[in-house]
Formats: sequence, C-alpha cells, structure tokens
Amino acid sequence: MSDQLSTLLSEERRFPPSPAFASEAVATQALYDQAAADPLAFWEAEAKRLDWSTPWDSVLEWELPHAKWFSGGQLNVSANCVDRHLAGARRNQAALIWEGEPGDTRTLTYWQLYQEVTRAANALLALGVKRGDRVAIYLPMIPEAAIAMLACTRIGAVHSVVFGGFSAESLRDRINDAQAVCCITADGGYRRGQILSLKRLADEALAGCPSIHSCLVVHRGQGIDPTACPMKEGRDHWWHRSLEAQAPDCEPAAMEAEELLFILYTSGTTGKPKGIVHTTGGYLTQAAATTRHVFDLKDGDVFWCTADIGWVTGHSYVVYGPLANGATVFMYEGAPDWPARDRFWSLCAKHGVTIFYTAPTAIRAFMKWGIEHPAKHDLSRLRLLGSVGEPINPEAWIWYHLHIGRERCPIVDTWWQTETGGIMITPLPGVVTTKPGSATIPFPGMDIELVDTTGTPVARGGGFLTIKSPWPGMLRTIYGDDARYYETYWSRFPGRYFAGDGAKIDADGYWWILGRVDDVLNVAGHRIGTMEVESALVDHPAVAEAAVVGKAHDLKGQAIAAFVTLKEGFTPSPSMRDELREHVAVKIGAIAKPDDILFAADLPKTRSGKIMRRLLRDVAEGRALGDTTTLADPGVVAKLKAEYESLE
Ligand code: WTA
Repeated sequence: MSDQLSTLLSEERRFPPSPAFASEAVATQALYDQAAADPLAFWEAEAKRLDWSTPWDSVLEWELPHAKWFSGGQLNVSANCVDRHLAGARRNQAALIWEGEPGDTRTLTYWQLYQEVTRAANALLALGVKRGDRVAIYLPMIPEAAIAMLACTRIGAVHSVVFGGFSAESLRDRINDAQAVCCITADGGYRRGQILSLKRLADEALAGCPSIHSCLVVHRGQGIDPTACPMKEGRDHWWHRSLEAQAPDCEPAAMEAEELLFILYTSGTTGKPKGIVHTTGGYLTQAAATTRHVFDLKDGDVFWCTADIGWVTGHSYVVYGPLANGATVFMYEGAPDWPARDRFWSLCAKHGVTIFYTAPTAIRAFMKWGIEHPAKHDLSRLRLLGSVGEPINPEAWIWYHLHIGRERCPIVDTWWQTETGGIMITPLPGVVTTKPGSATIPFPGMDIELVDTTGTPVARGGGFLTIKSPWPGMLRTIYGDDARYYETYWSRFPGRYFAGDGAKIDADGYWWILGRVDDVLNVAGHRIGTMEVESALVDHPAVAEAAVVGKAHDLKGQAIAAFVTLKEGFTPSPSMRDELREHVAVKIGAIAKPDDILFAADLPKTRSGKIMRRLLRDVAEGRALGDTTTLADPGVVAKLKAEYESLE
C-alpha cells in the first residue's frame, strides 16, 4: 500500500455533526432506516414531493439493463422547477442571482423566470421545434443557459448542452450524433477578461450540421457589439427579439415519466463521446431529493454550485435540483481568479451565499493562492460546503474546513457520475460523521457494492465500484447505441452496473474513492478519454502513432501525458510540440491539451500489439520501471487498473 493511501486510511480525524446543526438538519437517521427497509417506498415518497399531472402505475419495472421508473406517470420539469413556486411568497423570491465576470448582475424572481421560460418555450415552438426534437445549447454561464434548458423541458424538447470550452468540431459531432434541429448560442461570454465568441465557433460547427434548421443567438451585452456577430439569414435569430415577440404564457407539455429529458455527452474509453440519456420522472426525483437532503436546503438559502452548465453537476445542482426545491441559485460567469484571486470569496460575501459546492481541483488552487484571499471576506453566512468531481485529498479537505468553513460548516464529499444523474455516495449533514478524504456512505436507497476482479463482493478493502439495483436518476441508454450501453456498463460484472472507479471500504464501512480504473482521465475534475486525445493527435499529418496516459498532478489531480511517434520526414521539435497541442485544442477543446508531449521512436507494446499503458504511466510519472517502493496514491489506482486490464 502506498504511503499516502495508508495515511489516508489511518486518517484519525473525525468530524461528527455539531448538535446545533443536527437539531435543525433536513436529513435524519430515519431516512437510512426507511430506505433500507423498503427502497421503492422511499423513492416513491420522494417522487411524491414533485407535482405530477398523472400519477404513476408502478414505481419500478426492471429488466436488466433497462429500468422504467414511475411508469404511467406524467409531469413537466419546468412546471416543477418554476410554476409550482408561484403560488405563495416564493413568487417574488429570487430564483436566480447572477453575476457576470465584468461585474454586471441580474436577479430573476420565480415570477420573472416563469415569464422568461415561457417566452423562450414559445419562441422554440415558433421556430418549429417539437416535442422530442433535440436542441443543442452552447452558451456561457449566463441566466439564458438555465432558461434555455427549462424552455426545452416545457415543450418536451430534449436538450443537449455542450460545454462552451469545447471546440467547433466537438460541437459539430455532438449535434450530428443527436441530430439536433436547433442550436442556442451567444455572441460572446467573458473568461479572464477575454471575450469568447461562441457564435463564431457555432457557425463553424453548423456548416457541417445538416439537421439544424435554426439558431437562437443570445446577445451577451456588457460591451459586446451585436453588429459584429454574423447572422445567417433564415437560420439565425436574436434570442431577445424572438422572446419579445412571444407571450409569457405556455402550457407545459405533460411528459411521460420515461420520456427523454436530456442527452449529455461524456467521455468513455473509445474515441467517441457517449450521449448519456436521462429521462424525466426518475431523474428529477433524484436531483430534487439529493439536493434537499445532501445540501440541507432551507428557506433563505443561497446555493452556489460552481460547475458549468455544460457538465452534469451544472444540470443537477445549478438548475434542476435547486429549482425543483424552490431555492435561490447563485450563478457566476467567469474565472475564480479574475480580476483577482479572491473573486469567489468576494462573491460569497456580496451575494450572501450559504451553501457552496465546488471541485477539489479548485480547492487545491485556492490553497496554493493563500489564505489571505478568503480571509479578507465575510464568509459568515456560509453554512455548508460540498466537493465533487474527483477524490479530495485530506489536506485539501482540512484546508476547506478551516479557511472557508471556518470550522463551522459540515463538508459533503459527493461521489457520482454523468451516468448516475445525481449524488450516490455522500454524508448526510447532521447525521453522518465525516472523515477527510472519504465520501462516507451511500445515499439512502442506493445499493452500491465493491467487488473484486471475479465480481465477488468485497466487504472491507479495495475493489471495483458497482451498483446492484437500479436507481431513479440512472442513465437509460447511450443515445442511438443501446448495445454500447449494455457493453459499457452492464457486461463487465454480470448483473451489476460498473462505474469505472476503484474504491476502498475501511473498517467503519466508509468509502474512499480512488479514481478511474479504465482509460478515462480526470483532469481538473473534467472527464477526458485517452482515446479521444489519441484520435485527435493521430489526426495530425505528422503523427504516426500516439498513446495518452494520465500522470499525477498537484493541482489538477491528473495531467495528460502523450507519447507520440512521428511519420517519416517529420522531426521532433518544440514547435512541433506546440503545434500538436494546438491541434488537440482545435479538435476537442483547450481542456484536452496534453501537458506533456514526449516524442518516441517506438511505443512499448505487448506481443499482440497492445500498447503497454502501465509502463507509459510509470515513465510519465518519473517512476523507475517496475519499482513499487515509491508508489504514491496513483500507484494504487495503477494496480487496480492493471488488475482491471487483466480482465480483458
Ligand atoms: C470522479 C461528475 C472521487 C469519479 C459528477 C467518477 C469522484 C467521475 C467524485 C465522474 C468524488 C466524481 N470523489 N471521485 N466525490 N465525484 N468523481 O461524469 O472518477 O464528470 O467516475 O461526473 O468523477 O465524472 P463526471
């Protein structure tokens, strides 16, 4: 066992809930007991907290790998996230408080959000978007991102949000895979003081997207010149003009519980991202239930989840979960260090954020920047902190606890995935004692089990994370490829969903997530497939062969290391390295640029021609080959990886 991991597992510090927090907590021990006694009754009770226009006939129909939750039931997501909060005082409560990077702000009450969403829904209908049609959303973090998502759900259109940091090519591939008919983008967005012109990238993408008939363009404002934005006659329409022409009133479509809600593309072990399919009733039930219990949501809370809307965390915990609960969401457009490194803390103080949910990579950056930045601000309204996206090292956890939570706020470390739709392993604040670095125990109603390479359950120790029973927010399939859905998730360990993560369970039954054991990297909390980066590299005319592995990185968790062999006639050079990195940025997006590119005459292969990634990881991390004495935490994952690879 590595030193770091043994410290982790012998981590002595325990943080029991404070009596004051526990006495007022939303969650109770009874939730665990009820869910253990009758998981379906537990989920049914959670589903009943939503508004359904038609009640369901059965809670769950399960025929592996296909689950149907709340069959026969009908509901509308936008009606649940907006309309039902209009009856009482909440009508005039802020639904969304937003701040742009340059400092411009907007607040939308639930009533104002209702008007925007219904106008946008009517605008989509006017463009000929129908129930079941796919709509691509390629926007910066502005209120219109949430409005566009909700407008789609209102008319039963299926959104596919594409992260604004992805390239034109990535957008094009996602639009074509989903056969989207409409694209919603913006003339700009701010990032580190620069204006990113998403519309220009969208234009490049749309030139290769025959299924698209219309494009709505949000004018970002704040100094961005709309006349500089090229508009294509007949296809492009300004968002504000289209909305102005519509009435603020639109009947919500009564959607079947199992009708498609959204597609979200995520990286897997092949070069082609997978369109993860989520449906309506089960997804919203889990998003709403987890938001309420995990974040201890109460009236008066201001909830800030820092994720971009382009990732699943932005779907479930910026938009659907909090709004379904009638919360006030805070949303910020830009970078955490712009114009200075205290921006997040100044935002927390200024907007009275009470619940703050971010990724370990951000926390590690804050640590590096120094405690003087949070120390300058009044963070006394914060009462709960969350972490998501990658394992949080105990040092970062303790720093978060001391300098942001000021020893007062419980921390919830939440494990889940794009595929799970919502949180799966997490402490419930006020109930569960936390240990720095552990996501603690499964959320009530979740049937999660660790198994060894043969699929035999492991009660204590290390293994592969699997899920034994269906859960409401689970993915239903991979868009357009049901065979791949079965193959990817359900075939490795028969009868079980395999998450792709390795984990350990300690003597107290607490879960410690170790990271991916497949060829998926987690770079600064973003999922990137090694094969995607390899395909982007070999697409360059100079590249003969490429192999990509992850290497441990202090801030990002993992960094991307690429081994490249060049074709005859090309020679390695610093400029070639830059060119290849740029090529990956153009093919995928800047987040996938390799940190290191090593030129090699040959790549190490097995006799059958398989690249020996394990060796390359050793090289990338500067380990002596075969040497196991110096293994740090990633070494443990490497071992699990090797075990996992030996399964193939
Ligand atoms: C990793 C993000 C450790 C994990 C919600 C998973 C985590 C992948 C945690 C999913 C956590 C997420 N501790 N690892 N609390 N949360 N992960 O689909 O490897 O972008 O499989 O979903 O992130 O990434 P995705």
